[in-house]
Amino acid sequence: MEDLVRLARTMMIRAYAPYSKFHVGAAVRDEEGGIHGGCNVENAAYPQGLCAEAAAIAALVAAGRRRVLECAVIGPGPEVITPCGGCRQKLREFGAEDMKVHLCGPDGLHCTVTLGSLLPMSFGPLHVA
Ligand code: THU
Repeated sequence: MEDLVRLARTMMIRAYAPYSKFHVGAAVRDEEGGIHGGCNVENAAYPQGLCAEAAAIAALVAAGRRRVLECAVIGPGPEVITPCGGCRQKLREFGAEDMKVHLCGPDGLHCTVTLGSLLPMSFGPLHVA
């Protein structure tokens, strides 16, 4: 878990967030144990911005993986952040309800919750299978 938090923190530092100035980092662990990071990437056309979790998931898929076993998200503080609604659904695509989501602030891990608690009664891939 420390490796995920460390990568998420590195990602947060690299965020491109000139508009909100709100840097977010994320890291996900795949089914082989590999980890992948992402940061938010904003755009002058504001709605085109990308969340950190989405970037981390894209890196995992680009590496040829298909499952998210665990995720860490870190924000700049002082409030601990949680994945936005869209990112909860994106995580759901590649993980189960018992996926651990580690919520972090600048001082480290605050708490660990499950994706199921963040996105109850979720719609997932099996609904459209
Ligand atoms: N952001 C993320 O990267 N992940 C989230 O789950 C919440 C919000 C980013 C989007 C935007 O660049 C900035 O945080 C402020 O909303």
